[in-house]
Amino acid sequence: MGHKKVNLKKYNTFGLSVQANAFYRVRSVRGLINILKDNDLPVFILGGGSNILLTKDVDALLLKNELYGKSIIGRAGDTVKIGVRSGENWHRFVLWCIENDLAGVENLSLIPGTVGAAPIQNIGAYGTELKDVFAGLEALELATGNIRFFGKEECNFGYRDSIFKRDLKGKFFITKVFFNLKDAAAADINADYGAVKSVLARRGISSPGIRDISEAVIEIRQSKLPDPKQLGNSGSFFKNPVIDANYFHKIKEKFPDMVHYDLPDGSVKVPAGWLIEHAGWKGKRIGNTGSHAQQALVLVNYGDATGQEIKDLSDAIIASVREKYGIELEREVNVW
Ligand code: EPU
Repeated sequence: MGHKKVNLKKYNTFGLSVQANAFYRVRSVRGLINILKDNDLPVFILGGGSNILLTKDVDALLLKNELYGKSIIGRAGDTVKIGVRSGENWHRFVLWCIENDLAGVENLSLIPGTVGAAPIQNIGAYGTELKDVFAGLEALELATGNIRFFGKEECNFGYRDSIFKRDLKGKFFITKVFFNLKDAAAADINADYGAVKSVLARRGISSPGIRDISEAVIEIRQSKLPDPKQLGNSGSFFKNPVIDANYFHKIKEKFPDMVHYDLPDGSVKVPAGWLIEHAGWKGKRIGNTGSHAQQALVLVNYGDATGQEIKDLSDAIIASVREKYGIELEREVNVW
């Protein structure tokens, strides 16, 4: 089949220049089914390109998700059910919700990427996770072309995790996501996250609405996270590691200032940003790549980095954190 070859530099937020050898824009589910019928290449699904580190050319059928559209499906009391096609930009969806007085996703403002990618890693920020508003999704099974509905339970959501990163990895193309949102007037606002509280206090806002939360989150993100248009990056490169409480108490003696959060199951979450900073990596530049000066957990491309260079830096950081603290960092970003 004569597919288009495309350079992916503008399709990934790291700004890495690799070639896709078979690029196809998915604009309808019917088109998707047709292209998959005659395909014998491996499949690579591309959303916003904000959680992928491309270390080599993509020798696969690359499906660029361009399924657009969103609608209010129904209301029950204060709850409003929304259906959104998966290629929609996540942040534009959040802004649309705010315009329409729909609460639930305001804490997730300015997260890059598509609506379809949001459930795959159960995106989360400032006290909210996607799973809190998730009402199901529709996905097309690549092997059969069948459409299947997944309810919340079936998705096995965890911290930056779902069944689509594990047992069903690479097996489904998510076509539509459903949300249960609330009428803004009836909604509980979540302003508990420390940084959000401080911005609201500074702005003199004592009873925030969804727009206030969204604007506070946008301010915080813009102050810490580099804009991919200016400096290639993919947000948090690693997950925050969760460690056993006994082990935490042991290393806490050596590192008494280590920031940590006790989890309900007795384990302890430690910010990867803290570990990386205190292992001496924050703001450090190596060749064309480095750890960001405002947020050590973000790795950046200073312009001409290759994916392999960034991968090498991440390996060096993993080894250094392991050696210093005995803690294993796991990448949040997918490596190709
Ligand atoms: N910290 C440092 N040094 C750093 C960075 C952070 O000491 O260089 C410390 C901070 O002082 C703070 C703690 O680590 O005490 C947590 O930092 P922050 O509030 O910035 O959040 P994070 O744990 O680094 C996580 C998510 C972000 C999300 C924020 C806010 C992960 C892997 N990252 O970052 O998500 O926006 O919380 O909820 O869970 C993403 O996934 O791409 C992402 C940006």
